[in-house]
Amino acid sequence: MEIKITKTTTPQTMPPEEKLGFGKVFTDHMLLVDWSKEKGWYDARIVPFGRISLHPASTVLHYGAEIFEGLKAYRREDGGVQLFRPMENIKRMNRSAERMSLPEMDENDMLQLLTTFVKLEEKWVPKSFGTSLYLRPFLFGNDEALGVHAVHNATFMLIASPSGSYYAEGINPVGIMIENEDVRTVRGGTGYAKCGGNYAASTRAGERAAKKGYSQVLWLDGVERKYIEEVGAMNVMFKINGEIVTPMLTGSILPGITRKSCIEVLKDLGYTVTERLLSVDELLSALKSGALEEAWGCGTAAVVSPIGKLAFGEEEYVIGGGKIGEVTQKLYDVLTGIQWGKQSDPYGWVYKL
Ligand code: PLP
Ligand code: COI
Repeated sequence: MEIKITKTTTPQTMPPEEKLGFGKVFTDHMLLVDWSKEKGWYDARIVPFGRISLHPASTVLHYGAEIFEGLKAYRREDGGVQLFRPMENIKRMNRSAERMSLPEMDENDMLQLLTTFVKLEEKWVPKSFGTSLYLRPFLFGNDEALGVHAVHNATFMLIASPSGSYYAEGINPVGIMIENEDVRTVRGGTGYAKCGGNYAASTRAGERAAKKGYSQVLWLDGVERKYIEEVGAMNVMFKINGEIVTPMLTGSILPGITRKSCIEVLKDLGYTVTERLLSVDELLSALKSGALEEAWGCGTAAVVSPIGKLAFGEEEYVIGGGKIGEVTQKLYDVLTGIQWGKQSDPYGWVYKL
């Protein structure tokens, strides 16, 4: 794919790395590629970062035709930059596109867009361990008419944000509230797709959790409200009686790339990992009996994040004394070791630029 590059004449500098937070600072440029049913993908361009203009009838503004991805560029100690399993994000982006009747893109073209952009924005990849350049590809329907149908025009974009930790807690345990009113998605719905609407529908419960002092909600399945699904921005894993249990992919859960990687690492560390249905009743009885030894979430933004407190109804339960557990710590060390290039990558997951 030919990419036209127009460089900014007013390059910015990165704020101090310890002040970055998550997703608040953006790099000098952004990437756009248009698509139409007649022409396919056309006009790939990198331009100075700035506002975009949309027709007021644009599909995305009315019917929510939007999907996105999240991946990171990591700075190694030798100064080089690497991505983590970018092909997995590219494949998931196409699966999300298929679900939302948005156009798919050739995998190698998308990889080329990502790598060209990151190389151009290299100076924005922060250097301290735990920080990274968060990459946000997204794609939206852009028809300038109000009929409801699969879109005939769409735009793919890529923006990037040098970021630190997603949670204010960093690697310290977060408190999570089990949500028993709203549901996120149902099987047959859009749960497995990374579409904006899933997140828009989840913020009401998120606000309720925040008011009670919890970082995010843990969703139950949308039909029986019985089985544990995932947290707002991460998949979940539990250590129960020495075994690792994580909710199976039923179609309503996002198939996390970190989840998939954690399962492989844990198995290689000698743990038994079971992907299965896990009811909230089973989880609560494991909490009460002490069989639940550790709980953590995993995701690109959240990395591996210990869960120190779980709330359900009026009850609050502390897990592992509210401290990070042994398996959580080990997993964090191995995964971040590979991502930031501090340790060798036996899996071939890193993609060096
Ligand atoms: N679940 C949800 C709802 C998410 O938004 C994310 C983040 O992308 C994840 C899980 C974790 O997925 P991944 O590990 O691919 O980032
Ligand atoms: C990610 O981990 O990349 C995500 O997309 C989570 C996000 C909704 C902040």
